[in-house]
Amino acid sequence: MKNNAYIPPLRFHWLTSFYDSLVAITIREAFFKKLIVDKVANVKGNNILDVGCGTGTLTKLIAEKSPKYTVIGLDADQTALDISQKKVIGKDLNISFRQGFGQEMPFSDNSFDIVVSSLFFHHLNRSAKLATLTEIRRLLKPNGTLLIADWGKPTSKFQRILFFVVQLLDGFETTKDNVDGVLPSLVVESGFTHVSDLNIVPTPLGTIRLIEAN
Ligand SMILES: C[S@@+](CC[C@H](N)C(=O)[O-])C[C@H]1O[C@@H](n2cnc3c(N)ncnc32)[C@H](O)[C@@H]1O
Repeated sequence: MKNNAYIPPLRFHWLTSFYDSLVAITIREAFFKKLIVDKVANVKGNNILDVGCGTGTLTKLIAEKSPKYTVIGLDADQTALDISQKKVIGKDLNISFRQGFGQEMPFSDNSFDIVVSSLFFHHLNRSAKLATLTEIRRLLKPNGTLLIADWGKPTSKFQRILFFVVQLLDGFETTKDNVDGVLPSLVVESGFTHVSDLNIVPTPLGTIRLIEAN
């Protein structure tokens, strides 16, 4: 995967406008995003980044629940960012959106207290995952927190079978590390010392795991 190549929200650009409706009804989105929002609300700090924010649903929920934070959403896809922007127009929220790639983000060292990402890492191949995690480590303050919610090791054989639907859409190469349960070890390889599973959420399309790393 070249640095400027990326997989859009539903793999094909023409599907982007259907993303929000599809995700809302298929993968317990409201439930697992609330877990992140509630977790973030209990962490001290001022600046938060949502990497691979897509259509900005999580970014907006965080800004609404934690007005103390300056919230930035970053994504490679301008169409998704336009949808994000529309969601916050006229709302009194401390939120902004930037176009950019996870592997090379336009922010200075130690600038965020929390970095979150949801359903993003399974869009990256192994080297892009590592490059992005290294970037996140650079951007986080020394005691900063990384929260990732993404497809992970399935809780059962049935959950594994369901996940083939996601792999058929998003591709096998970028999703393999997720379903093999390798993501936490890549987080450690990128310089984080403490990595733990916070929540495990079985869904109709596979198992989402919420990981915390410091
Ligand atoms: C499945 S969507 C998830 C969106 C959102 N975080 C959510 O939870 O609904 C994955 C997002 O990752 C973005 N993306 C893929 N590769 C990227 C990269 N290298 N850098 C930044 N964004 C990327 C896509 O454009 C897409 O919006």
